[in-house]
Amino acid sequence: MTDDDALRLTGGMPLGGTVKVRGSKNAVPKLMVAALLTGEPVVIHNVSQIFDTWLVSELLDTLGCATAQPADGQLRIEARDIHPAATRDLEYFHTRSRIPVLTCAPLLHRVGEAELWKPGGCSIGERPVDLHLEVLRAFGATSERTETGFKLTARAGGLRGAVVELKYPSVGATEQFLLGAVVATGDSELRNAAMEPEIIDLISMLQRMGALITVQPDRAIQVTGVSRLRGVSHTAIPDRLEAASWASLALATDGHITVSGVRQADLGTYLNVYRRAGGEFDFSSDGSEVTFRRERSMLRPLVIETDVHPGFMTDWQSPMITALTQAEGVTVLHETVHENRLGYSKALSALGAQMQIFTECLGRTRCRFGSRNHRHSAVVVGPTKLQGTTVQVPDLRAGFSYVLAALVAQGDSTVTGVSLLDRGYENFREKLLGVGVKLR
Ligand code: UD1
Repeated sequence: MTDDDALRLTGGMPLGGTVKVRGSKNAVPKLMVAALLTGEPVVIHNVSQIFDTWLVSELLDTLGCATAQPADGQLRIEARDIHPAATRDLEYFHTRSRIPVLTCAPLLHRVGEAELWKPGGCSIGERPVDLHLEVLRAFGATSERTETGFKLTARAGGLRGAVVELKYPSVGATEQFLLGAVVATGDSELRNAAMEPEIIDLISMLQRMGALITVQPDRAIQVTGVSRLRGVSHTAIPDRLEAASWASLALATDGHITVSGVRQADLGTYLNVYRRAGGEFDFSSDGSEVTFRRERSMLRPLVIETDVHPGFMTDWQSPMITALTQAEGVTVLHETVHENRLGYSKALSALGAQMQIFTECLGRTRCRFGSRNHRHSAVVVGPTKLQGTTVQVPDLRAGFSYVLAALVAQGDSTVTGVSLLDRGYENFREKLLGVGVKLR
């Protein structure tokens, strides 16, 4: 471990300052992949300098694209002549992130073949790719099992329109569907689709490229394929995950943190929970800047169930639960999106939190994980005085919670493995300093 990979910080004081968030980590890489669908230039604005955008730029270059950053926050991609990647390159990209899986549909369209790998990314559960495979097969691609996943081949006439019903509204499988359906021959429909703001952003960009997409109110997306998509200039939506992380930090430390570059509509469910917990927020009149603070000195415990949009987002869960270790009473959490997202409880316990994990569904919904013995519910009893110690970051979202917990804790802590936070937080250390964190 290098010094770069550890944060030594002193906690136990209210934090204050301003943080600027840029394009969503869960939107920008998908917009970049969509650029593979056209030979004309695509310019994406509001792009932050984080691991996932670097990795996808590198991947696009490997596939024959020309990527450039003409100005801060801008990314230009031209996918005029693309080709499949070599196996050793595929291994490099697929073991580092889940995004490369999404290149399957565009590659089947442009070069007639693709490899669907079992993907990498954050360690938050099994994260299978069966739904992606189902979508691609429905478009007429044939699949052959390989050691690393599946080799896919498009049929002679290219992708053809299809009707698919997802057994679960997966974000990634919905994106795979969109990236294939927009250029498939004929009409397509996806039922039980995910409707996250990042998906609507992808739809907006595709529409401006010439795609014909209709979003129905009942989780259905209808697409009429077009023979050609054109270039586009598009500004990515702000990162609602990062905004919520800083908000939880203000709540937990009884500070005042202003987050700029946000969109209120994407944070609706989070803001309701924030206020119920005893937090308050003040937006600028155009809604692009918000200051988070506590409204009452002692936080209230909550019952939280994560869900697909517009429910309480799973990525908001660990920072909020960490803040609620400071609430007076019993908080109950039911995680229904990823089966393995409570790994951070060990570190919280090491800092002194009282958090117990259950395999039962502790919520109003009986979810997919209850009968499969997954440790996906939690009870937190507070308030607890956390004490500084050394903790190791296991995945991106939990990583922020460790830093958050260390900042609530009295005394000094060391958080190791913080390079994982570069996946989702641009200039993370500078932002911490900007809200008054004392880094040793
Ligand atoms: C995306 C986000 C992630 C967020 C998640 C849910 C990115 C880069 N990541 O992940 O931050 O937490 O949406 O909002 O955008 N599933 C299957 N089979 C599949 C695909 C998924 O069973 O083929 C399951 C997963 O195991 C999981 C659930 O569906 O239990 C949700 O996954 P999905 O919505 O696909 O999440 P991602 O797109 O991977």
